[in-house]
Amino acid sequence: MHQGTIKITKAATSKLSTTDFNNLPFGRLFTDHMLLAEYKDGAWCDPEIVPYAPLSFDPSLATLHYGQSIFEGIKAFRMKDGSAAIFRPYENLKRFNKSAHRMAMPDVPEFHFIEGMKQLLKLEDKWIPTAEDHAMYIRPFMFATDEVIGVAPSSKYYFMIILSPVGPYFSKPLNIYVEEQYVRAAPGGVGYAKTAGNYAASLYPAKLAKEKGFDQILWMDAFEHKYVQECGAMNVFFVLDGKVITPSLEAGTILDGITRKSIVDLARSLGKVVEEREISIDELVAGYKNGTLTEAFGAGTAVTVSKISGLQYKDTHISLDASKMPIADEIKQSMAALRDGSAPDSFGWMVKANA
Ligand SMILES: Cc1ncc(COP(=O)(O)O)c(C=O)c1O
Repeated sequence: MHQGTIKITKAATSKLSTTDFNNLPFGRLFTDHMLLAEYKDGAWCDPEIVPYAPLSFDPSLATLHYGQSIFEGIKAFRMKDGSAAIFRPYENLKRFNKSAHRMAMPDVPEFHFIEGMKQLLKLEDKWIPTAEDHAMYIRPFMFATDEVIGVAPSSKYYFMIILSPVGPYFSKPLNIYVEEQYVRAAPGGVGYAKTAGNYAASLYPAKLAKEKGFDQILWMDAFEHKYVQECGAMNVFFVLDGKVITPSLEAGTILDGITRKSIVDLARSLGKVVEEREISIDELVAGYKNGTLTEAFGAGTAVTVSKISGLQYKDTHISLDASKMPIADEIKQSMAALRDGSAPDSFGWMVKANA
């Protein structure tokens, strides 16, 4: 492991005392410091922690034109004993470097990603919320910093981490539009990478769905528009015939969600039958009609477990009762207990933030 140092320059003033922790809009408020490391001449410089502040670049910044940009989303939780712990950050590191590889960007060293995050959290410890369903959202990201016009991998990059104390992402069960026209990802593309362009491309179809009164899109496969993929910022699960099912990852078109993989393991440990496989929309409609489709929910770092009460597919509206989703409730509660330390961390998922 890279044995660098992290120089810390403290902010002259803090926004902490003027922050209303009872009203934390998601992702709009950032702590006093950020971590920054530069990649140039084929190597990473040591990371630094500096006061949170705007950056300044030339208008020819490669990221702005060609989108070489990747990110992660992680949460740190306040534990019952007052300490703080990060949920599975090594999984995010692996995924980050997979995204980096696909986007022709350099790997980020474990030291920069994990130790950087820990040191930043240690410095911002007082910012980590304590209320139920609240957490510190950690946003590591990397972007191209060549100031050159021309399509080619950049020779320089910034790796950064910023922190945002957050409350719940969605406040009510979701009404989802099953998308048949627009496509998020195709095999051989970048669907599995957490890269900015995937999100940019989703905005227009999501806007159209919002205008029709839906909260989110459920993406379908690129060829037949028949097989369920994922939603905007979450993987999806269904309970069909008592079994917990979720789309498989083989095609490389959906994000390998860390909440998803955790729920698969957790649900199995709770004695549920879990299947990772192709799920056709016809199977869900048939399950709805014959009463075997009983639950649907999304899973992601930002959204945690979010119940789905409506799915609109062509003229069929699948309507599910969010107050009768015992498996989603059990999974959500078990995850919450694990993340605040009220249940033993039997999987070894929690990483102490200041150790
Ligand atoms: C497209 C997409 N799918 C799924 C997820 C869920 O992944 P994770 O559980 O790792 O947050 C996210 C959120 O990060 C996402 O952006």
